[in-house]
Amino acid sequence: MITQEMKEKLLKEAVAGSEFAYCPYSNFRVGAAVLTKSGRVYTGGNIENVSYGATVCAERVAIWKAVSEGEKEFQAMAVVGPGNKEAYPCAQCRQVMVEFGLDWLVISGDSAGKYLGEKLVREIVPFPFTPDALLGRH
Ligand code: THU
Repeated sequence: MITQEMKEKLLKEAVAGSEFAYCPYSNFRVGAAVLTKSGRVYTGGNIENVSYGATVCAERVAIWKAVSEGEKEFQAMAVVGPGNKEAYPCAQCRQVMVEFGLDWLVISGDSAGKYLGEKLVREIVPFPFTPDALLGRH
């Protein structure tokens, strides 16, 4: 169970993640923070590249950091984008989230970390392509 206080704290961590975003081409600064089931937090900002396709979103930077440290079980991810609009992961990042489960939370905030809403991964990815498809557990 994630309290509202924990959600707001995770949003602040996402803002901290956005601080080191490298986004000279889009100037679209995104931050993410994932909370593992073990209680750890990994942050990320988007990292762009002059070869645009090599860009990685903030959400995947945070997830790669966690997975590369041995963490694959997540409770929630907070995402913040520029301005005062909601930010939700792009479709590629949603697929990466699906890899690690359908029942974890995406918490959306503005650039200051103000809470703007939340959805479960399963709500933002209808008809998901899950690991079971290849691991034969269906
Ligand atoms: N971006 C993210 O980091 N996360 C999203 O969910 C959407 C897009 C980044 C990628 C790129 O650096 C910039 O935002 C514009 O697409």
